[in-house]
Amino acid sequence: TRSLSRLSSQSKPSSSFGIAFDIDGVVSRSDVPIGGSPQAFRRLYDDSGHLRIPYVFLTNGGGFPESKRARELSELLGVKVSPAQVLQAHTPFKQLVSKFENELIVAVGKGEPAAVMSHYGFRNVVSIDDYAACFENIDPLAPHKRWTMKQVGNPNSAIRDLVRTERVQAAFVLSDSVDWSRDIQVLCDILRTGGLPGQEIGHQPQLYFAHDDLAYQAAFPSERFGLGAFRIALESIFNRIHPHALEYTTFGKPNSFVFKNAELVLKQLVSSVHDNAQVANHEIAGSHHFKTLYMVGDNPLVDIKGARQAGHPWFSILTRTGVFKGKENHDEFPADLVVDTVEEAVDYVLKKES
Ligand code: G3P
Ligand code: MG
Repeated sequence: TRSLSRLSSQSKPSSSFGIAFDIDGVVSRSDVPIGGSPQAFRRLYDDSGHLRIPYVFLTNGGGFPESKRARELSELLGVKVSPAQVLQAHTPFKQLVSKFENELIVAVGKGEPAAVMSHYGFRNVVSIDDYAACFENIDPLAPHKRWTMKQVGNPNSAIRDLVRTERVQAAFVLSDSVDWSRDIQVLCDILRTGGLPGQEIGHQPQLYFAHDDLAYQAAFPSERFGLGAFRIALESIFNRIHPHALEYTTFGKPNSFVFKNAELVLKQLVSSVHDNAQVANHEIAGSHHFKTLYMVGDNPLVDIKGARQAGHPWFSILTRTGVFKGKENHDEFPADLVVDTVEEAVDYVLKKES
């Protein structure tokens, strides 16, 4: 494996450009590398394993802490990925810690959503698995869900006490819901009652979605429903049972702030490897300007739309290994360049920048 201790001194002024890679449909599909991604990423490091080109992963996927994701990507690609290079759709949730630090919040989605939120600094976070398990009969279909062999949710007594006495102040959906029927039911209970299922109607707690992707590319040949599809289902039902329309905030690509943040992190990557110790890192980060930032993605409505909206210095590259499978370019959100694979994308960038 290769390390990110410093940018290679052999590299050209690599700081004039940087790259952001989407994951699902570009780098991998259901944790299997695609499009020659291991070969492509090895080219971003020099022979001694030092990072040559500043790059980040910019994914709407999530559910696990950035450190764990970095370890998995390192293994998948055979290079050393640092947690700072992993920007997930829910990574900016940490900016909401001061608002909800001591409030009861519920974390929804596949993976370890509550662990992720605790890691960010939220103190009273309960996963929807544990939360639902605190209320007897809240999911009348639970006894029929034979597809799960292990018990879902195992709240300890501290969690049970908290859930019994405190109202939920916010729900955070970090990644795809594993059990739509239960999660829609329990979220509607929380949201319509003001945070205490079984009670009268109350003021709707805050609701945050990590992203709003309608579909994404997994292992199956055609696209699968994403968080955006779950949001539509929840919103449609909530709006039928509640006098006020559902209020929520969505993060993730294609929002421009995601690309602004990626630019900032890429600048920090450059500055963190800067050798001149007399100059403070933040000064370098503040003054540094990229000539070009490349976004390599597979979803025109998310990755390409986002890069186009972000404007200069973003240059969008669309691959054909994921959601987009067209021959030419996308009609509504055409990319600056269309290639078959991520390997071809890296090849293009390195040639252009050499
Ligand atoms: O669930 C993840 C999916 O919606 C998108 O992931 O890596 O293509 O942004 P990615
Ligand atoms: Mg993708």
